Amino acid sequence: MALILNGKEVADTLKQKITQEVSEMVANGHRAPHLVAILVGNDGGSQTYVAAKEKACHEVGFSGSVIRYESTLTEEELLEKIAEINQNPEIDGLIVQLPLPKHINETKITQAILPEKDVDGFHDVNMGQLAKGNDGIVSATPLGITMILAHYGIETSGKHAVIIGRSNIVGRPISILLSNPGKTGNATVTVCHSRTENLSFYTKQADIIVAAIGKPGFVTGDMVKEGAVVIDVGTTRVDDASKKAGWRLCGDVDFESVEKVASAITPVPGGVGPMTITALLNNTLKARKAQL
Ligand code: GUN
Repeated sequence: MALILNGKEVADTLKQKITQEVSEMVANGHRAPHLVAILVGNDGGSQTYVAAKEKACHEVGFSGSVIRYESTLTEEELLEKIAEINQNPEIDGLIVQLPLPKHINETKITQAILPEKDVDGFHDVNMGQLAKGNDGIVSATPLGITMILAHYGIETSGKHAVIIGRSNIVGRPISILLSNPGKTGNATVTVCHSRTENLSFYTKQADIIVAAIGKPGFVTGDMVKEGAVVIDVGTTRVDDASKKAGWRLCGDVDFESVEKVASAITPVPGGVGPMTITALLNNTLKARKAQL
């Protein structure tokens, strides 16, 4: 029976710490951190995520606001808004929720946000700092994963971590974080992806597996070494008539078979998901503190 790594509990503990820091900041006469999220269009998932981010801001005492646009917004109009927010000293963090409508170039938008305000950590400057092991803003999901590992005292140094997925948002940055020197680092990392041959050969050797491919139930018990730590980043909506919403969230890991062999596992929901928002709050607080 694996230990369930309770992301909700870790997130709540960290949120309490952030709340405390914000109240001290305000008591010392400083403005609370302010995060702005831009949402373009009406994608259901994006609306839910952005609303959850705004709610979390208010829970810890941040100012949080959402700017909503119709999907007809032009790239130029969005760039103008970003430029305006970049100049606004009252705003510490800016995120543009992805995906964007097809006519807007996501790379162009991501690179238009000032690196100091890029609390998603998607800007090339922040990705570059990460790659060089320098201090910068690390994207929320990978940072949240390392926070879970740290909270449960899971040793990464000298361990073999196998990452499944090479996305810029999760796979690539978590592979760098785990191999960088420092706490929750110093691992030997293998990055697997859609072109990897004989994936099980690698996963069966892993002390730590991070599954971030967006394929529900992809990692099964027979692919996992006895005692491995398994981190499930998947959040695919699958139809489920028994749920009020008509769907449920499904991870990349087949929980039932994997928890029998793993020593620790993150559930979906309630594992990595809650940590992602807390890591975003952490980044916004960091951006605010850099201005003091
Ligand atoms: N879409 C899915 N995940 C994310 C995220 O972490 N940040 C932004 N901006 N968009 C997303």
